[in-house]
Amino acid sequence: MCRRIAIACDHAGNEYKDALICHLRERGFEVTDYGCDGSCSVNYPEYAHYVCKAIQDGNADLGILICGTGIGMSMAANKHKGIRAAVCDNEFSTEMTRRHNDANVLCMGARVISREIALKLADIFVDSGFDGGRHAIRVDMLNELDS
Ligand code: RB5
Repeated sequence: MCRRIAIACDHAGNEYKDALICHLRERGFEVTDYGCDGSCSVNYPEYAHYVCKAIQDGNADLGILICGTGIGMSMAANKHKGIRAAVCDNEFSTEMTRRHNDANVLCMGARVISREIALKLADIFVDSGFDGGRHAIRVDMLNELDS
C-alpha cells in the first residue's frame, strides 16, 4: 500500500491542502507539502511540477493536487512522463481511476467539491490499488504514448 504522498495546491486550494495534510498524516501517511502557502496568487503548473517530479524521482508513491477546478493541475501533471493524473469529484471515479487507470495523481477542485468530499476522495484514492490484468495492457499503452 502507498505510504508516501506528495501534495501541492495553488492559491484556490490552500485550505483544502492543509486539511488533507492533517488528515492523511493522522492516518499515518508520510505527506510532503510542496506548497503553495497562503492565498497570494500563484501559477498552478509550477506546483503540479513539484509533485510530479517527486513521483518521477521516486520520492513519493502518489500525488494530490488542488486548484480551483482541478483541471489546470491535471493538464500540467499529465505533461509529465509516467504521470497519470485524474480530476475527480465523486467516489466512483476516484476508485476506478486507481483500479483501472493506475492513476498516480488525484486532482480536485476546491471550487467544485466540499472539503469533506475532498477528504473522502483522498481516502479512497490512497486506499485503492491497481487491478492489473487487462488494465495493465492499457496502462502500458498510455505509457507508450508519452515515451
Ligand atoms: C485560479 O484562479 C484558477 O484558475 C485555478 O485554480 C484553476 O482552477 C485552474 O485550472
